[in-house]
Amino acid sequence: MAIKTLEDKFQHELGDIYDAEHQFLEMQQQVLPKVSSPQVTRLLEQHIKQTEQQITVLEQAFAALGVEAKRVKCQGATGIVTENKKTLKDVSSDPMLVDLAIAGGSAKVEHYEISVYRGLVAGAEAMGQTKVMKLLQRNLAQEEQTAAKIEQSIPKLLQQAVKNAGSATSGKKATSAKGRTSAKGVSNTSNSTTDAASQTDEVESAMVATTGQA
Ligand SMILES: [Fe+2]
Ligand SMILES: [Fe+2]
Repeated sequence: MAIKTLEDKFQHELGDIYDAEHQFLEMQQQVLPKVSSPQVTRLLEQHIKQTEQQITVLEQAFAALGVEAKRVKCQGATGIVTENKKTLKDVSSDPMLVDLAIAGGSAKVEHYEISVYRGLVAGAEAMGQTKVMKLLQRNLAQEEQTAAKIEQSIPKLLQQAVKNAGSATSGKKATSAKGRTSAKGVSNTSNSTTDAASQTDEVESAMVATTGQA
């Protein structure tokens, strides 16, 4: 579609994020079974539901503009999804590294969405499309909240990974790397399990304190 007016540009970008949300929904559904961390699992499950709602909100925004909801192939989203899939393919089967890769990938997705929605909210406001602006602000608020929750979980996941790496290398050097390649291997190390459980509790407590829900 040729972009000749501000309205054309806005509709093009709305179609872009409409496509991006579909791509990100599919990506989240694909990575969910690979997550080990309970808090990252809950975050993803919650955000999958939100993404489905966001797609509906975008359809309402198209309707408010009086145009048909239409996906415009979003190369930006495709790039992020491809990058995230490649990292997951390359990462070892160590569940902590997998969780970190998924959390890091999700943070990239959220920040991409935030920048798109901020631009769209500003555009809708400038065009006097108040209803559309309010709808898009709802999606933006969810993305900002999700980005904050993911970023809050990453330092704890990193600390946990560092601790486990430390306890694995002290002592059984010859077998530690092999032992950490499965979730079972981690749970067999009693010190690591205790540390991991307390770290998980800390993260969940922090999330409850911040968001009011786990
Ligand atoms: Fe989204
Ligand atoms: Fe999102």
